[in-house]
Amino acid sequence: MLEVEAIHVGYGPLQVLWGVSVGVKEGEVVSVIGPNGAGKTTLIKTIVGLLRPRAPDGGRITFRGRRLDRLAPEEIVRQGIAVVPEGARVFPEMSVLDNLRMGALVPRARGRRAQTLAEVFALFPRLEERAGQPARTLSGGERQMLAVGRALMACPALLLLDEPSLGLQPTLVKAIMETIRRINERGITVLLIEQNVHFSLPMSHRAYVLEHGRIVLEGPGAELLRDPHVRVSYLGI
Ligand SMILES: Nc1ncnc2c1ncn2[C@@H]1O[C@H](COP(=O)(O)OP(=O)(O)OP(=O)(O)O)[C@@H](O)[C@H]1O
Ligand SMILES: [Mg+2]
Repeated sequence: MLEVEAIHVGYGPLQVLWGVSVGVKEGEVVSVIGPNGAGKTTLIKTIVGLLRPRAPDGGRITFRGRRLDRLAPEEIVRQGIAVVPEGARVFPEMSVLDNLRMGALVPRARGRRAQTLAEVFALFPRLEERAGQPARTLSGGERQMLAVGRALMACPALLLLDEPSLGLQPTLVKAIMETIRRINERGITVLLIEQNVHFSLPMSHRAYVLEHGRIVLEGPGAELLRDPHVRVSYLGI
C-alpha cells in the first residue's frame, strides 16, 4: 500500500535519513522505533509531503501505486492519508467539536461527517462530553484522543501516528494502544511511531528499527521484541 524506497532527506546541509525503505501492506499495523533524533518524525513529515527527498536521487514514495513525493500535502491527504502529528497539535482556541470538524474538510470525508463523528465519539466518549470546550482546556491524554479523533474524521485508508502516547501515564498508553488496535480492526492501515515498544511491538504485524537515519533491523513485531539489541536498547533489559 505504502512504499518508501531508499529515501534521503535532510534539512539544508544536514542529512537525516540515509536510504530509508519502509513498506506497509493493506490492513497492517507497522511500527517504527528508534532513539531520539533518529529521524522518525522526519520520515513521517516526508510521507505527508512537508519535506521532500533530496534531489536528484533521493528515493521515492508511492501509495497504492501512485507517486506521492511530488504531491502537495493537501493532495496527499486527499489520497486517504491522515496524520496524528508529534505532540498532538490541535487548535487550542477552537472547541473540541470544531477541531473534529476541521478533520473532515477533505472531499472523501465531508459526506460521511455525521456518521464518522458518531464513530469517533463511540471510540472516545470523553470527547463527546467535552465537545463544547476549547481544546486548550483538555488534559494531555484527552488532547491525544482529540488528535487521533481529528485524523479519523478524514476517513483515512492509512493513519500515521507520531508518538501518540508521548507524556502519558502507563494506563493511558495502554488505552491509546488498544484504541489503535481497534481502529486497525475496522480496516484502517496504521504506521505507528512509538517508543513504548512493550505495548506497540506485540500488536505490530511488522516493525522497523531506525537508528542514526538508517533502518538497522526489521521483522515481525513479536520477533523484534525478543531481539537482544531491542531488549537492551529499548526495554533496558
Ligand atoms: N527543522 C529542522 N531543522 C534542522 N534540523 C532538524 C529539523 N527538524 C529535525 N532536525 C534534526 O533532524 C534529526 C532528526 O530529527 P527527528 O525529529 O526526525 O527525530 P525523531 O526520531 O523524531 O526524534 P524524537 O524521538 O526526539 O522525536 C535531529 O538531529 C534533529 O535535530
Ligand atoms: Mg519525533
